[in-house]
Amino acid sequence: MKTIGVNLGATSYPIHIGAGWDDILISECARIKPNKALIVADANTGLLYGGKVQGLLASIGIEARQISIPAGEGAKTLDTVGGLYTAALEFGMDRGSVFIALGGGVTGDLTGFAASTYMRGVKYIQMPTTLLAQVDSSVGGKTGVDFAGVKNIVGSFYQPVSVIINTDTLITLPVRQVLSGLAEVIKYGIIADAGFLDFLEANIQPILSLDSQVLIHAVSRSCSIKAEIVSKDERDHGIRAVLNFGHTVGHAVEALGGMSAYTHGEAVAIGMAAEANMALLLGLIDQRFAERIKELLLRAGLPVRMPDFSNESIISLMRHDKKATGSRLVFALPTGPGQADIYKDLKPEIISRALDMARLA
Ligand SMILES: NC(=O)c1ccc[n+]([C@@H]2O[C@H](COP(=O)([O-])OP(=O)(O)OC[C@H]3O[C@@H](n4cnc5c(N)ncnc54)[C@H](O)[C@@H]3O)[C@@H](O)[C@H]2O)c1
Ligand SMILES: [Zn+2]
Repeated sequence: MKTIGVNLGATSYPIHIGAGWDDILISECARIKPNKALIVADANTGLLYGGKVQGLLASIGIEARQISIPAGEGAKTLDTVGGLYTAALEFGMDRGSVFIALGGGVTGDLTGFAASTYMRGVKYIQMPTTLLAQVDSSVGGKTGVDFAGVKNIVGSFYQPVSVIINTDTLITLPVRQVLSGLAEVIKYGIIADAGFLDFLEANIQPILSLDSQVLIHAVSRSCSIKAEIVSKDERDHGIRAVLNFGHTVGHAVEALGGMSAYTHGEAVAIGMAAEANMALLLGLIDQRFAERIKELLLRAGLPVRMPDFSNESIISLMRHDKKATGSRLVFALPTGPGQADIYKDLKPEIISRALDMARLA
């Protein structure tokens, strides 16, 4: 079991990572002392883990109810949040109660948003069950829903009181979802920690076979890298943008795939390979490092080759990304193993050449 502190002054909280979560859930509930707990799970995580968590809470005398939302991004709406408010009201939840998000990023974002607004804010605990949620969405306090077809357009910054990660939950997660989160793990090594990148290269097989000890290290190092970056820039005005390595191109690939052909991580892997080409063309990294990035992604079972989307369509989508400032494209690019910086004025020829190279990868 490892514990990481996210240092945000009055809203600081711990992230606990281990194989299993019984003891830590019990000790965290003893610390938080909720009068009632509403467990929010999705159709899959509710069946797999809901009963277990509810039983644990009952064993320490906490009155708990479970509500299941439909699985998948389609449920990330204000309607679903309305359902959570209704459940909370019917259960008689007040400011001393806690919401528990038991699921992937969709469940976590929705539950965090409901918790931030119900009675102007009640406590919530994250129990993330996808690798993506464990290393990314459960850290940083961004909550929200999709609205009018725009992803994450309505939301809040709201920190949980605790994050409890059980890496054993990944055993039931479909492999493609595991790989989607692994793309973010690899991203952290590339942009922030050369030693961690070496570790990932040496341990990619044990990670893929879900070896507990290796996973606990990979997840906790990822959380601490994100936590460190977030604590320097809680509201996403500056340095937090380095977390977007692979995402400017990746979001365009995701959109061109109709939001279904590629998982988020697959699109980001293709994006990282393409953006590594940009860093190479700008002379920020050498050929060897660009190859290292692609090789690791391939060994992890992630794609690096750009599909047959035209440069025009990719660039046009990138300009409409909500992280673009005006029509200026923003890229977070590696500048060497374990380091990255933000670049805003790439020449169009560099972007096009990098995308062309990515199609040959
Ligand atoms: N808040 C943030 O900072 C942040 C960061 C990144 C992503 N996100 C959001 O996260 C969401 C994506 O998260 P996700 O990839 O976890 O998707 P998800 O929550 O939809 O989960 C993916 C699928 O896995 C299933 N599942 C979850 N845990 C399981 C388990 N242990 N065993 C078996 N099945 C399981 C779910 O039921 C679902 O079908 C997006 O909405 C994205 O916007 C938020
Ligand atoms: Zn991402």
